[in-house]
Amino acid sequence: MAKTNLIAGLDVGSEKLTAVAAAHDEETNTIQILAGRSVPCKGVRGGIVSDIRETSAAVTYLLGGLERELNKDISHLYVGLRGAHLESFSNHGTYNISRMDKEITQADMDLAVENAKSMPIKNDNEIIHVFTQGFAIDKLRGITNPEGMEGSLLEVDVHITTGSSTHLNNLAKAIQRPGYKIDNMFYGMVPLGHCVLTQEEKDIGALIVDLGGETMSVGIYNEGILKFSRDIPYGCDLITSDLSRLLHTSRQNARMVKEKYGVAFPTFLEEDGEIPVPSLDGRSTNNINKHYILDIIQPRVEELLEQIQHCVATSGYKNSAIVGVLTGGGSLMPGMQEQAMNVLGLKEVRCGGVQRDLVTAADEFFDPLYSTAVSLVAYASESTGYEEYGRESYGGSGKSLFGKIGRLFKGMDIFGG
Ligand SMILES: Nc1ncnc2c1ncn2[C@@H]1O[C@H](COP(=O)(O)OP(=O)(O)OP(=O)(O)O)[C@@H](O)[C@H]1O
Ligand SMILES: [Mg+2]
Repeated sequence: MAKTNLIAGLDVGSEKLTAVAAAHDEETNTIQILAGRSVPCKGVRGGIVSDIRETSAAVTYLLGGLERELNKDISHLYVGLRGAHLESFSNHGTYNISRMDKEITQADMDLAVENAKSMPIKNDNEIIHVFTQGFAIDKLRGITNPEGMEGSLLEVDVHITTGSSTHLNNLAKAIQRPGYKIDNMFYGMVPLGHCVLTQEEKDIGALIVDLGGETMSVGIYNEGILKFSRDIPYGCDLITSDLSRLLHTSRQNARMVKEKYGVAFPTFLEEDGEIPVPSLDGRSTNNINKHYILDIIQPRVEELLEQIQHCVATSGYKNSAIVGVLTGGGSLMPGMQEQAMNVLGLKEVRCGGVQRDLVTAADEFFDPLYSTAVSLVAYASESTGYEEYGRESYGGSGKSLFGKIGRLFKGMDIFGG
């Protein structure tokens, strides 16, 4: 009988938490977004928990709201991780098949991946995510699934993300305190790249950039595979800081000016004119010329994009990206696309959210602000077998709060037919 699972995803953003709940029909592989919302959270900064109590309160408020909307309990959730404590590398593993029959099994593949994972990582860090890029059999590369094939030497390329155990455990505590269980934690870029880029973009070579508030995440795909990723520890909130300082107004007003009137490229200034901006004490209003606002925003946007350009230039995959895709809140600023083309030297850049087909009553779930949360549930729905390569390190290390990771969708067959 067809089964429908409830999948919930939590995106831990710079100053807010975003969650979505979706129903996944296993038979048709349809994802229906049932509900989603964001709440401000002062307890996280750039993906790192600075106050567990504040974060737990925001989690309770956010998920409680979703539960009431759905009229169902959300007991388990997937969490998207990001932040400057995360580091990603590529590595290589090998395994010799010494049996007579030489037929490669899943266990052989697991052992090759285990070998790729045995690399020195920083003290207090642990492996969060292991993304299998591809296999080679007897030096013949480009094998996506070697199970059942014959060979003597099995090799695997992996993309590994590590993170600080302290930060991960603090985040886990903040989520678990109100009683929610974590099914899995993914490095946010992996689901994001998977669901925001089209297959053609991944194949030809794409740079994906999540322009968040306090983090900019960069991913480079080539030949359909994530080759490189990095989180840069600042983002579009710097534009807000500049506006606040130079316009002598509160951060809240500066953010409103940025989101309502801000443009990153001169041709997007629709008309001349002035914008009323409240003074810092709120007692008066200053009329600010739109050109002056552009003069503040444009250099900062260029500087942020130059950091991304530097990241790409030093990635080892400098010439791999043919197209660029911008997502996250910062991509909503008019002219960001044009600036990205200029600074990143790409002929084609688009801005957008999740590309996967979704059943949803609200278009906002395709919005760049929902990219990470929606891609988390979409990715989780496809991740059968993920646990074999995923967070078992939590169980092994003895320092994580998660213990051995559970089977996907355990106990979540609540819509089941
Ligand atoms: N319409 C808009 N125009 C310009 N900037 C915007 C717009 N909407 C949101 N932003 C900016 O996008 C940033 C937030 O983006 P997003 O919601 O993707 O970040 P986050 O997920 O909370 O944080 P992070 O990804 O850094 O952890 C803020 O700097 C916000 O001001
Ligand atoms: Mg984000």
